[in-house]
Amino acid sequence: MKNPYVPMPVKLKAVRLENETGDLKTFDLVFVNSGDAENFKFVCGQFAMLSINGVGEAPFGIASSPLTKEVLRFTVKKYPKGVLTTALHNLSEGSTLGLRGPLGNGFPLEKMTSKNLLVVGGGFALTTLRALTKYVLHEKNRPHYGDITLFVAARDPGEMLYKDDLAEWSKRNDIEIVQTIDKPVEDWPHKVGFAAPVLKDLAPSAQNTTAVVCGPPIMIETCIKVLAGLHFPDEEIITSLEMKMKCGIGKCGRCNIGSKYICKDGPVFTYKQLKELNSVTV
Ligand SMILES: Cc1cc2nc3c(=O)[nH]c(=O)nc-3n(C[C@H](O)[C@H](O)[C@H](O)COP(=O)(O)OP(=O)(O)OC[C@H]3O[C@@H](n4cnc5c(N)ncnc54)[C@H](O)[C@@H]3O)c2cc1C
Ligand code: FES
Repeated sequence: MKNPYVPMPVKLKAVRLENETGDLKTFDLVFVNSGDAENFKFVCGQFAMLSINGVGEAPFGIASSPLTKEVLRFTVKKYPKGVLTTALHNLSEGSTLGLRGPLGNGFPLEKMTSKNLLVVGGGFALTTLRALTKYVLHEKNRPHYGDITLFVAARDPGEMLYKDDLAEWSKRNDIEIVQTIDKPVEDWPHKVGFAAPVLKDLAPSAQNTTAVVCGPPIMIETCIKVLAGLHFPDEEIITSLEMKMKCGIGKCGRCNIGSKYICKDGPVFTYKQLKELNSVTV
């Protein structure tokens, strides 16, 4: 049996800066061994551990769709004192790193079929939501979902992630996209305001709609509050939790909330589950 702690070698095929601040980079990885590529089956919402030999390892959400076979995509925010994220940002194309996964549970795509989808994201948490959006918009999958609305929040236009994707999706007539930034900026053609109040004004009806909200904790908290106020049922509000992790496979006890391990039972939970775990303040 394969040792789950041993990473698979992956090569950095392409890397690019995502934002003006310069602390978000997107990495396209390819497996070194073709067998690893074939065996790596994941669902949107799952994450993987990325590692650099002699530096460390950390979890990152998978930003590419499972239907994109060519590369695995991650977007990484570099923290000033972050050991691994700084080292990742210093890598150049062609470097080899390690990957363990896929890990965690992912979004409940089966349960979401035939529903309308409201996807709300901000910051690097947009990673797994990008995977989800790409996946549901794929011609094979789009007929299985109702109306799709994507809310994207960023501090300012320069911090907006995945601008190419947003531009491409904006041309389609089968997805509604709302982009918002915190404060007014000249020539910004979209909304201004924090995610929660904009969501309150423009969210679609809760009727037959599943909402997926990922972002910084304050954004998740305020947006869930808005959605609950708009009568979205607790089990139809889905989010993804972030917590310090070590093993990523439910063995080390580093990431539990009550009886649940975020790495194994999550990171995706419904609001109903979070309430049962007493892990929400909303
Ligand atoms: C399931 C899951 C998915 C994730 N997906 C992503 C993703 O797609 N992209 C991404 O960029 N990150 C993601 N993260 C967060 C990522 O794992 C951390 O940023 C990473 O572990 C930091 O590693 P480091 O070695 O650079 O920092 P460390 O050396 O471990 O930390 C050093 C210092 O950096 C700062 N720091 C580190 N992490 C954070 C944080 N999360 N928030 C605020 N300050 C921090 C703190 O000041 C800390 O003291 C995810 C986390 C989880 C659990
Ligand atoms: S990280 Fe080890 S149990 Fe979750």
